[in-house]
Amino acid sequence: MALSKIAGIGMYAPQKVVTNNDLLKYMDTSDEWIQERTGIKERRYAHRTDETTTTMGVAAATIAIERAGITAQDIDFIIFATLSPDYYFPGCGVLLQRAMKMKEIGALDVRNQCSGFLYALSVGDQFIKTGMYKNILVVGAEKHSFGLDFSTRGRNISVIFGDGAGAVVLQPTEEADRGILSTHLHSDGESAELLAMYNPGTHANHWTEQKLADFDDAEIAEMFMSHAMIDKAQLFPYMDGPAVFKKAVEKFPEVIMEALHKNGLQPTDIKILVPHQANLRISQFVQKKLGLRDDQVQNNIQKYGNTTAASIPIALCEAWEEGKIKEGDLICLASFGSGFTWASALLRW
Ligand code: ACO
Repeated sequence: MALSKIAGIGMYAPQKVVTNNDLLKYMDTSDEWIQERTGIKERRYAHRTDETTTTMGVAAATIAIERAGITAQDIDFIIFATLSPDYYFPGCGVLLQRAMKMKEIGALDVRNQCSGFLYALSVGDQFIKTGMYKNILVVGAEKHSFGLDFSTRGRNISVIFGDGAGAVVLQPTEEADRGILSTHLHSDGESAELLAMYNPGTHANHWTEQKLADFDDAEIAEMFMSHAMIDKAQLFPYMDGPAVFKKAVEKFPEVIMEALHKNGLQPTDIKILVPHQANLRISQFVQKKLGLRDDQVQNNIQKYGNTTAASIPIALCEAWEEGKIKEGDLICLASFGSGFTWASALLRW
């Protein structure tokens, strides 16, 4: 059975750089607080009208396809991971298919937030291994800047997110012990509401009566998108940061060790760990717990903030472009985020 390999990788970061100090215009925060708690110095914001999650995905995909030595016409399946789609429906996959003038191929959207790219990669990996497809495009892209609460009320979330996109082309490889060695996907919906954007949605308070109880019956009757939601700032993401942090530092090492054990390997075998860029403190905790050196962990949250589904392919792409990844190197990808979901993938480059 042929394993799948990353045949091409690309990324796109919007031009507009937003520093921590730029955010002071909107909210009560400080460069010192943001850097100390998250490591973030700046992030990129997409152009408000000219760029969307899909257009950024297209920009990253164009590079990945070119580096794979193929054309958009050769792609036979699209997997697009995002939590900030251009439309509630249809998904970004079909918009990318249209924009890149691809054949009438399948286009799948993945909604697993910070773990979205690894879920998407894992799905693509299975399709390659079964022989169903030969050139799969996997994209992670986000335009967070369009949907955040930029008042002081939303500062614990809005300061951490940034926009961007990353993409890879998966192809089969006949080389033994090369490519994606294994992927590991997990979820625990018990804490789904601790990191979530509840509205617009069909829940009508079904799951979250305690938290969203400040709507009366008339408001609930019109609930999908209502004035009350706008007035009560319920159209923004919610996050219990400390609870997410606590779970993340438990699950990241666990899922990385699961991947290593499965392949009979140790943390010392890893050339580069590319963790989802959620918070520099989380990555540093994971590094310490696994006993990894600084040069074994790729961090770029300082420049881009948390770009959710895009963060792993962007960080992996930068590591590759910086010449840190050579043929035969062992790469570990790992994520944790909303759901909760967490995942890992081990690759021999
Ligand atoms: N600027 C200044 N002060 C702030 C800010 C801000 N931007 N945000 C919060 N504060 C204040 C709070 O109001 C609070 O003040 P108080 O003590 O007077 O009440 C204080 O700082 C501490 O707030 P906490 O929320 O406890 O801060 P914490 O140290 O936990 O840091 C953070 C917050 C950075 C969000 C952290 O909890 C975190 O990184 N959590 C994990 C995030 C994560 O991994 N998310 C998963 C991926 S996202 C996804 O899947 C979509």
